[in-house]
Amino acid sequence: MYGDLDRPPLRAATLLRALEPDGWRLEVLPTAGSTNAVVAERARAGEAHGLVVVAEEQTEGRGRQGRSWVSPARAGLTFSVLLRPSLDARLLGWVPLWGGLAVAQALRAQAEVDAVLKWPNDVLVDGRKVAGLLAEAVGGAVVLGIGLNVTTRREELPHEQATSLLVEQAAITDRETLLKAVLRGLAGVLGDRDTTSYRELCSTLGREVRVELPGGASAVGVAEAVDEQGRLVVNGTPYAAGDVVHLR
Ligand code: BTN
Repeated sequence: MYGDLDRPPLRAATLLRALEPDGWRLEVLPTAGSTNAVVAERARAGEAHGLVVVAEEQTEGRGRQGRSWVSPARAGLTFSVLLRPSLDARLLGWVPLWGGLAVAQALRAQAEVDAVLKWPNDVLVDGRKVAGLLAEAVGGAVVLGIGLNVTTRREELPHEQATSLLVEQAAITDRETLLKAVLRGLAGVLGDRDTTSYRELCSTLGREVRVELPGGASAVGVAEAVDEQGRLVVNGTPYAAGDVVHLR
């Protein structure tokens, strides 16, 4: 049973059937600590590329740099994808960026919002974060976790800089449509290795930014480029996503 009629549960069997042709094997859990942890465990056990674990509720959702990801039950999409991309090692840094691109493109096409990317892979609408991604390397696999705020009400959002599709008055808030669009898009983007579309939607490029590094060091300058390894270039210096604590 679920109490909030605006937040229906996902229909796992319908989604699985719809997404199998794109190579995804989808499982829906009523609750999980962190879907990234669940999928990482399965990756360690040797599971193949294409597993997707969605949790209707997470009790220990993880964000980048030790932060948390908090979302009420069924108010958003919280899921992780097991990828074993056959890529040149130099392109591996693009995998999390392509995840963000798939989310932004799905939101633009389905929800009709002006979603853009804040490097490396925050998805923003109106300058506020609607989705975040956490990529973790597990042996030769990449676990790509995606959190998207869908029907989260303003008072339920974790901070001022967060938003949801509901708050942004998106054209749709149907989680199944959104999940299918993101996963189909992700399959396409990973196949195309499209770096141009990412750069086109990356609102960080051309902006004055402050790159905050571990240990308190920082660099200020214009974000000039995203290089061939997916690093952000500021004042001629490339920064990898894993090395940046904060980008302001
Ligand atoms: C961030 O913006 O810092 C990244 C947030 C990533 C959140 C998602 S929700 C599904 C998956 N499981 C987790 O524990 N984290 C990711």
